[in-house]
Amino acid sequence: MAPRKIIIDTDPGQDDAVAILLALASPDEIAVLGVTAVAGNVPLPLTQKNARIVCELAGKPDTLVFAGCDAPMVRKLVTAEHVHGKTGLDGPQMADPTMPLQEQHAVDYIIETLRAHDAGTVTLCPLGPLTNIATAFNNAPEIVEKVQEIVLMGGAYFQVGNITPAAEFNIYVDPEAAKIVFDSGVPIVVMPLDVTHKALTTRPRVDAFRAMGTKVGDMVAAWTDFFERFDKEKYGSEGAPLHDPCVIAYLIQPELFTGRHVNVEIETTSELTLGMTVADWWRVTDRAPNAMFMGDLDSDGFFALLADRLARL
Ligand code: BDR
Ligand code: CA
Repeated sequence: MAPRKIIIDTDPGQDDAVAILLALASPDEIAVLGVTAVAGNVPLPLTQKNARIVCELAGKPDTLVFAGCDAPMVRKLVTAEHVHGKTGLDGPQMADPTMPLQEQHAVDYIIETLRAHDAGTVTLCPLGPLTNIATAFNNAPEIVEKVQEIVLMGGAYFQVGNITPAAEFNIYVDPEAAKIVFDSGVPIVVMPLDVTHKALTTRPRVDAFRAMGTKVGDMVAAWTDFFERFDKEKYGSEGAPLHDPCVIAYLIQPELFTGRHVNVEIETTSELTLGMTVADWWRVTDRAPNAMFMGDLDSDGFFALLADRLARL
């Protein structure tokens, strides 16, 4: 089968970085058409730079990287330096990238790329706030039918929230954008906190990255060491959730994940629960299902896939 064409929309972030590496390490299954940066974990000048650092680390400096929206559609940007550090990729020492940033705005790139493809042939993989994707849908509604599927990291049902008691970070930062995406009619697969909180970077798993003896293995281990300090303290867990790579792992081995096709609505008005993903997990309404909302993963299988693929870089 031909590799699946994807655009990765991202706000790196150490876990975004691992997701990008996993995609670039898997050319048999995945063709990365482009990487579009958005403001999220850290401001846009850093996320676009970090995306290029990661592509260079993967040995793929020809990857097209674009900078997109520097703020949510109607709100002020909320960032997460408390998790990811000042640069977004704190941990190891890293040189500035030398590969170029594309001149075109990420939103224009998304629109142009989708326009150039047949209906249902490009998959969008958002790993951050949904600002770029929703803006593209707003500016060029005809591209929506070109999307094969949106596989995204965001939201929560049983885990409820991480940035507020009621909301997950990516959805909370730009709830208006999330609403546009969830209302778009495109088939959506959601990797919520319910899943990603089971993808924990335990010691043996991090040691396996380090034991690769490669630059990529060392970097991934050092990033993990950095960001898990926050989550371990917060959750008292054995490691930190490796959120965003779940999206890419799903494209390669969907059988690692299980979930339910349900209705998901986004809260955009309540101050208290802003950005909540109201998932009808128990199917107690007659609202039409609009998303495959994942609930569980085979975490050993997930980390085995990661170790196998990252070792190829
Ligand atoms: C999400 O927020 C970011 O901090 C991570 O990169 C991930 O995409 C988890 O809530
Ligand atoms: Ca992210």
